[in-house]
Amino acid sequence: MPDNPVPFLDLVTPHRELENDLVEAFRQALRSAAFVGGSQVEGFEREFAEFCGAKYCVGVANGTDAVRFALMASGVGPGDAVVTVSHTFIATVEAISQAGAGTEFVDIDERTYCMSPAALEEYLQSCARDAASGRPLGKRTGRPVKAVLPVHLYGQAADMDAITAIAERFGLIIVEDACQAHGAEYRSADGSWRRTGTFGKAAAFSFYPGKNLGACGEGGAVTTDDEHVAKTIKMLREHGQERKYYHDLEGYNGRLHAIQAAFLRVKLRHLADWNAGRRAAAARYAALFAAVPGVTVPYEPENSRAVYHLYVIRAKERDALADHLKSLGIYTGLHYPVPVHIQKCYREWGYGTSSFPVTERVASEILSLPMFPGLTKEQQSQVAAGISAFISAERTT
Ligand SMILES: Cc1ncc(COP(=O)(O)O)c(C=O)c1O
Repeated sequence: MPDNPVPFLDLVTPHRELENDLVEAFRQALRSAAFVGGSQVEGFEREFAEFCGAKYCVGVANGTDAVRFALMASGVGPGDAVVTVSHTFIATVEAISQAGAGTEFVDIDERTYCMSPAALEEYLQSCARDAASGRPLGKRTGRPVKAVLPVHLYGQAADMDAITAIAERFGLIIVEDACQAHGAEYRSADGSWRRTGTFGKAAAFSFYPGKNLGACGEGGAVTTDDEHVAKTIKMLREHGQERKYYHDLEGYNGRLHAIQAAFLRVKLRHLADWNAGRRAAAARYAALFAAVPGVTVPYEPENSRAVYHLYVIRAKERDALADHLKSLGIYTGLHYPVPVHIQKCYREWGYGTSSFPVTERVASEILSLPMFPGLTKEQQSQVAAGISAFISAERTT
């Protein structure tokens, strides 16, 4: 075993640092016996809405429910199609299906790895039109497209000005998958910087433990400026009721636990600092890799401030590189090795390889390096030295 292993993610240290506050939050929950709903959930919703710059936040059980409820409350359901990307975690697509809608994919941008506005435009232009609504008819599903679902992948906002302009032109709503992008910023053409969670009709967040803002268990939230959407999600998460035992909708058990909300409130106070730590680590990686040929570092457009949920490089011989790093005690990840459109569970959708060339090329070359707020300069130098040694050896063979 190498002397100083570098973990992919260190979740232990931040919890040790916050232990007293988290234990106190747990003690308070035990003493009040408020486990479902109540002041901690409402407090967190207020504080997270404010953090994002949204009017409303509704806590839910996890990010997958957040995407599903955001779509349903925005009026997406059976009979509709939703356009998204295949280069994402499968939950994005599961949530579309669970809302009763059909998924249509478009390719990603070669540099940002988020939805390509050019591919979206080209796709929508080339669709036949629905006679009744005038909306584009999804090519795979044959259903009228109702929504565009961009994913702010790896902690970077998709190109929201361009996507919004296209969506408006085709009469589509936008629902953001911000599950990996708590606090990521994007500057619109009017010069204003805004955080993810404020660009669409609604936006979904996950608080899975490894996220930039993670619960000590599962959690999720939807942000929106639309009062009706917020109210509908509150009903969907609670068996469709607004008043106890009066069920206006068929809903779900999709609530954020009060103890998780209390933990999230403790952690939210540190999120801006943690995100700054990730950005500083990303800048150090970029400087270290500047002299390493064959490594493509993440691209951050000048109107974007990413929060580096993941730090993803591209390199040829990615699998051999990951094995080499592992032999040095440096742990990496793959996000994601198999694009959603070629997953076995969706084989009946009929997509083959070469359906989305950028997505497929990127999936074969990406490697997620260690990234977390407390990552040290020494650890990063170790990672860079391991990668340099591998590439030099490759070049001489
Ligand atoms: C892009 C994306 N969407 C949706 C989700 C689903 O979130 P959860 O795991 O909290 O259900 C995740 C979680 O990893 C994600 O990364």
